[in-house]
Amino acid sequence: MSKVTTLKLGKMKESGERIVALTAYDYPTALVLDGVGVDLILVGDSAANVVYGMKTTLTIGMEEMLYHTRAVAAGVKRALLIADMPFLSYQVSAGEAVANAGLFLKAGAEAVKIEGGRPVKEVVTRLVELGIPVMGHLGLTPQSVHRLGGYRLQAQTAADQEKLLADARLLEEAGCFSLVLEKIPAEVATRVTKELTIPTIGIGAGPGCDGQILVLHDMLGMFDNPPFKFVKRYADIAKAIRQAVRAYADDVRSGRFPDDQHSFHIDAGH
Ligand code: KIV
Repeated sequence: MSKVTTLKLGKMKESGERIVALTAYDYPTALVLDGVGVDLILVGDSAANVVYGMKTTLTIGMEEMLYHTRAVAAGVKRALLIADMPFLSYQVSAGEAVANAGLFLKAGAEAVKIEGGRPVKEVVTRLVELGIPVMGHLGLTPQSVHRLGGYRLQAQTAADQEKLLADARLLEEAGCFSLVLEKIPAEVATRVTKELTIPTIGIGAGPGCDGQILVLHDMLGMFDNPPFKFVKRYADIAKAIRQAVRAYADDVRSGRFPDDQHSFHIDAGH
């Protein structure tokens, strides 16, 4: 399987080949995702929620995001590796955005993702001019959770739908190579996908997008609380971990582990 590039993603849209995307935050999961042929791996700022237990993505910073990007980059060979730029790392000025995006590329990312429409157009233009590929993100943009009044379905009114479409066109014009559409009606995502030449990657945006992304911990069932409507659980990893840890604890407490097979002996020719 050949290396996934931003250009290849565009070709996949043209040929109707769906793009498979997931988040990752560490080396071992990056190895697994890359090994099974996931096309796009995002070091999401959702790390705030699923790795650090923070309530929003507003409180994660450059230091943590760079740390996770380095770890994931060590395990990725084929997938396109994208790093999420955290809150306030790209909003203050284009200059700061360039410096911070550059740090992600130095950490091993091949592109960055930023949230928002018109207000980030200038930043996108500057980054792309300097050779840094940018993925956009519209719809539910978690870094704006307080302005949006929660993690609600977006683009519900005709006016909001037109605004979203206008923002999507603007981001394409500014040079984004792809666009995440989060938690919007499927019909709206399908329309945006048809109108843009760059691939859309949906999360809670229905089947009409060019690709799909989920937060890894959500689709693996790492947390016991019921998942969002748009998350399909493909495993119950929390249950598997609990079973393994209980079996280990029982073995340790009963003296079954370590047994002979897992122990060394003097002069046994190991
Ligand atoms: O932070 C993240 O994981 C994301 C995806 C949900 C698209 O932005």
